[in-house]
Amino acid sequence: MWKYILFYCATCIFVNHAAPSHSADNRSIEKRGAPYVVKSGQFDFYDAQRACIFAGGKLAEIRTPAEQAAAAALGFEGDLFIGVTDLNVEGVFEYVTGGGITYDNWEYMGSFPDIQDCAMMSKALNYGWMNGNCGQKLDGALCEGVPEPDPEPGVSGDPHMRTFDGRPYSFQGTCWYTLFKDCSSSSAFEVTTEFQPREDSTVEHLRTRTVSFNATVGGEFVVINGLDIEEGSDGPVTKARSIHIQKDDTTATLTFTSKDTTFTLHWSLHKHTLGVSITGSDYRGRLCGLLGDADGDTLNDFLKPDGRVVHDAAEFGESWKVESKKCN
Ligand SMILES: *[C@@H]1O[C@H](CO)[C@@H](O)[C@H](O)[C@H]1NC(C)=O
Ligand SMILES: *[C@@H]1O[C@H](CO)[C@@H](O)[C@H](O)[C@H]1NC(C)=O
Repeated sequence: MWKYILFYCATCIFVNHAAPSHSADNRSIEKRGAPYVVKSGQFDFYDAQRACIFAGGKLAEIRTPAEQAAAAALGFEGDLFIGVTDLNVEGVFEYVTGGGITYDNWEYMGSFPDIQDCAMMSKALNYGWMNGNCGQKLDGALCEGVPEPDPEPGVSGDPHMRTFDGRPYSFQGTCWYTLFKDCSSSSAFEVTTEFQPREDSTVEHLRTRTVSFNATVGGEFVVINGLDIEEGSDGPVTKARSIHIQKDDTTATLTFTSKDTTFTLHWSLHKHTLGVSITGSDYRGRLCGLLGDADGDTLNDFLKPDGRVVHDAAEFGESWKVESKKCN
């Protein structure tokens, strides 16, 4: 089962993500041991750097023998890029975020130093370092400073969203956006959400939160606005209802099933949070919208409707605006 929790807190949207238990994908596999995390994947140096940054950290900058020992203790397989290069001045190795290295554990120096500019840590060298070509694909990245995958609810004041694949980002939308939908040509369902400015929002500092959402499955829709429920369909509903609703004083839970997959939306009006959990695998990699494609890879999450993957959160977020909707 995959479980994702999306919070729309006062200033933030945040999806909490527990690791997919049927993780067939090998790009986002993590091995953790403070302060380091292994991100597995066929990464060149630049992919590796991005993987760490997207996860909220940076490539590991090992500064002491104790840090080297902590990294080696992870016992990872293969070769991983670390945050040490001589890309600035040939032969002068520096940390990626600046400053000459204060420690090294070179086991091997490549014979083409002018093209072997990026350091890796290698299991085959007993976790010693060697310099390699920055463009070659290794087995992943050694990251540091990556936050725990399940941060405490309401932990930071930063506006946050987190995709199905666990990528956090900031986005302050206004009006309606596609949260997620079946991205095939005969789309079976779509969930859209409405964002409105908070009371303390200003022109210079826009802060929005979600106030309502619309789950549409086939021709049937349920709109929850605050805790008002509007149900309808674009034709006579002849079969059993597809969307099930449970509601109490401050929360509502919606479920619907498509193919082998059940989607559960947990809405808390009080916190303006919306949690999404998914059981089933038919839609793995087949969703799109603000929560990404749910294929297990965080790097491709900013997929726009035109099929392009971008890096800018605002560009990505705005691309999922529902143009036909008007808001005050
Ligand atoms: C995942 O692992 C398989 C088999 O080891 C490999 O063929 C595939 O390329 C890997 N995928 C990625 C994205 O690294
Ligand atoms: C809910 O969304 C569907 C699909 O986008 C749309 O057809 C329907 O009119 C919406 N319902 C309301 C009440 O906005």
